[in-house]
Amino acid sequence: MVDFKKSVIYQIYPKSFYDSDGDGLGDLKGVTEKLDYIRQLGADYIWLTPFFVSPQKDNGYDVEDYYHIDPRYGTMEDLEELSREAGKRGISLMLDMVFNHTSDRHEWFRKALAGNPEYKDFYIFKKGKKPGVPPTNWESKFGGSAWEYVEQFDEYYLHLFDVSQPDLNWDNPKVRRRIQDVVKFWMGKGIKGFRFDVVNLISKGEFRDDLEGDGRRFYTDGPNIHKYLQELNEATFGTDAEIITVGEMSSTSLENCYRYASEDGKELSMVFSFHHLKVDFMGNEKWVMVPFDFCKLKHILFEWQTHMAEHHAWNAVFWCNHDQPRVVSRFGDTKEYWKESAKMLATVIHCMRGTPYIYQGEELGMTNPGFHDISQYRDVESINHFRILQEKGLTRENAYQILAIHSRDNSRTPMQWSDQKNGGFSQAEPWIEVNDNCAYINAETEEKDEDSIFHYYQKLITLRKKYDIVGYGDFEALDEMHPSVLAYRRNYRDQKLLVINNFYGKEVTWEADESLKDYTCILSNYEHHMMDGKRIRLKPYEALVLYREA
Ligand code: GLC
Repeated sequence: MVDFKKSVIYQIYPKSFYDSDGDGLGDLKGVTEKLDYIRQLGADYIWLTPFFVSPQKDNGYDVEDYYHIDPRYGTMEDLEELSREAGKRGISLMLDMVFNHTSDRHEWFRKALAGNPEYKDFYIFKKGKKPGVPPTNWESKFGGSAWEYVEQFDEYYLHLFDVSQPDLNWDNPKVRRRIQDVVKFWMGKGIKGFRFDVVNLISKGEFRDDLEGDGRRFYTDGPNIHKYLQELNEATFGTDAEIITVGEMSSTSLENCYRYASEDGKELSMVFSFHHLKVDFMGNEKWVMVPFDFCKLKHILFEWQTHMAEHHAWNAVFWCNHDQPRVVSRFGDTKEYWKESAKMLATVIHCMRGTPYIYQGEELGMTNPGFHDISQYRDVESINHFRILQEKGLTRENAYQILAIHSRDNSRTPMQWSDQKNGGFSQAEPWIEVNDNCAYINAETEEKDEDSIFHYYQKLITLRKKYDIVGYGDFEALDEMHPSVLAYRRNYRDQKLLVINNFYGKEVTWEADESLKDYTCILSNYEHHMMDGKRIRLKPYEALVLYREA
């Protein structure tokens, strides 16, 4: 059995990681070339976002062929080489499987559109309510209606994402079998990890108008979701104890996650949930400009930590991925306390109960690029919402401000390897602009600097390997009402770990519920600490990890 509690996973968005052949797009060979960097950091797995054949409307989350690699990213040999070379360095690969939908260019969908009844039933086609009115009022997650009209059938098909991403009909057993075949194929290639994209949306419930929301309550964590996951598990990855899995759970609930990620192993190893990253939204509305709510953030994190532990279920813990803005821009300070705040945010996540995920460049403290013109954006969701915001009456300027905060392109700018041309990412003009701050935020500079954010992440990973409590301890929330400190205790056998974080740029005094004198500081983003009995004076964005054995 692999011990995913002691593992750390590094996420790579190949398109933006490293371009080995000078066409402005990152590729699989580029990942192989940079393996020593990941080994140096200390990660155990690399999660690669989809590199399958795809028209790239949603950067590969629109799969045309699950069995072949998109030539833009390389070849099957490139992947095999990457897997071999990673293996030599003690790193396994995790592939990203998009099974809620396919691309509209997938053979199954083409056959469906050509009128083949067998394949039509691979997707969700329905009659409109009346001429010109879609079957339900559900909204696509990328904006607009979730239904697209197909004239030749006088029917609509469901697409919870882009119109080019038709949803698969998982209620059809043939679809489920085909999906199992795909997973088995990649297992046959020796793949030891799978991430399942928006997998809690695969079981659709009732097709009814949503009078309160955008429709998500009818298809999220749907009626057969646990059955379908258990079936996939039994037929595929569940047969190999060396495989770890993570499900991306959109708008999910704790109660469902206890089951998805239960230690009984019937469904998945762990789950991503996103409630803690909606604390700068208004309800479910992301395209707004509101300051983040620290107390809510803390409350949600604590709630998930405590309840998942009580139910013996496992979290994936993270701030960043290819869909989220950069965390230091979001909850930290990119100016005066850039380094301190990036390290503090890393401490919060890495000492929690769960498997930490690091998104490429997070370990360097990469920031949002501050794009200010629509021509700089590439993401379908951002481009749609730029239009929708203006249709709702916002000025162009306001729409730009909102995009600069929430766009998924914030995290998709090229990895900053050096202060050279294009941040050392590519010799050619990159597919999306490099952040100007690559002059000082880059891997080469940080590898040389012992005090860098990169080295701090390295130390956090080492702590997880060295101290069992980091992987196995329970979780105890501390001082939940404190307006600026996020603190918690982990307990394991005779060990205790006290993690104290000042989330703001102002000094603050914090009082523990026990004396701090028997604790040793095993990691911090400051050298000297002002501790006295139970009290500690925290400097701006100070983070401390204190350890003791009884
Ligand atoms: C997930 C992916 C995201 C993609 C969406 C549709 O949320 O992380 O990038 O656009 O699913 O596949």
